[in-house]
Amino acid sequence: MSEWAIRTDGLTKHYGRVRALEEIHLRVPAGRIYGFVGPNGSGKTTAIASVLGLIRPTRGSIEVLGVCQGSRDFPAALAQVGALVQAPAFYPYLSGRDNLRVLGSTRSMVSDRDIDEALSMVGLTERANDRYQFYSLGMRQRLAIALALIGHPRLVILDEPTNGLDPFGIQEVRQLIRGLGAQGLTVFLSSHLLYEVEQVCDEVGVIVQGRLVAQGPVEELLRTRGIRIRVSPGERHNGHPEGVDGHNGALARAAARLIEQLPWRPRVQVQGESVWVDAPPDKGAELTRVLASQGLWISELVPVRSTLEQYFMELATGRQAEGGVRS
Ligand SMILES: Nc1ncnc2c1ncn2[C@@H]1O[C@H](COP(=O)(O)OP(=O)(O)OP(=O)(O)O)[C@@H](O)[C@H]1O
Ligand SMILES: [Mg+2]
Repeated sequence: MSEWAIRTDGLTKHYGRVRALEEIHLRVPAGRIYGFVGPNGSGKTTAIASVLGLIRPTRGSIEVLGVCQGSRDFPAALAQVGALVQAPAFYPYLSGRDNLRVLGSTRSMVSDRDIDEALSMVGLTERANDRYQFYSLGMRQRLAIALALIGHPRLVILDEPTNGLDPFGIQEVRQLIRGLGAQGLTVFLSSHLLYEVEQVCDEVGVIVQGRLVAQGPVEELLRTRGIRIRVSPGERHNGHPEGVDGHNGALARAAARLIEQLPWRPRVQVQGESVWVDAPPDKGAELTRVLASQGLWISELVPVRSTLEQYFMELATGRQAEGGVRS
């Protein structure tokens, strides 16, 4: 089995003067949940449609489940891919089960057992015989995912699977996707919601204006930024000149000055009685020692993980390299 469920090299798609995709190198590891995230119009659907062979890229190569697009074996590889790109046109007056029978059979031979398994995977077994028109939005979306799951695909591609759902629907779909990942399927999903990707996915690719600006395991992308440490010199310490009047703000400023002078030149910001320091996690002990040596005692030291949202905003606005403390 190939290491990559999806691999593209130099994938480019131009619609006339619109550069929808520019040199995209996707690496979707087999057996992982990959979130493809980017704002509206950034090229997510174009990339997905290219991978599925629904549109022809301007240039670049695409491999799905280890097989090159254009090769003789590619249709067989695609047969192992379940995809939800556009909302399927379900029939309102048919039951969920009958909808899967009708729409599923346009793709391949579908047995009742395949349908029951797909219904069970999305948690719709109990409601399978109810009419589609009485389904909630969340149930409708789960049925759409069930359609992609018929026949045990190895790779499931979902374009914006939570789009238009309320928080309950989102939660349902999120749990479903986690469940698919737990069963060892590779899931590739797109979203413009970062927190969603952060909660569900192991891997992330960030696309902005047709360019893949970051890609890798979620943990790693966040870790590379380091963490922020909050230092509150809350305890007035006798003997420290700035602590005499009990001005903790002054203590914070004194702490900030000390920290700024450390050889690794951390970025520091004073906020009221607290000091925010951009520092990797292993600097906590050094900060504690330096401040204590000057009679400043840390009352609170909190490692702060940045969210994918912050990371994304920085990438999108090109401020990542600048670093620094923001809040
Ligand atoms: N058939 C087409 N002809 C011309 N331009 C197109 C076509 N399809 C997409 N585009 C353009 O390509 C760019 C990428 O569109 P795409 O639909 O891939 O983005 P997206 O990330 O899926 O957006 P959304 O989050 O809104 O679904 C956009 O500028 C879009 O207008
Ligand atoms: Mg789209």
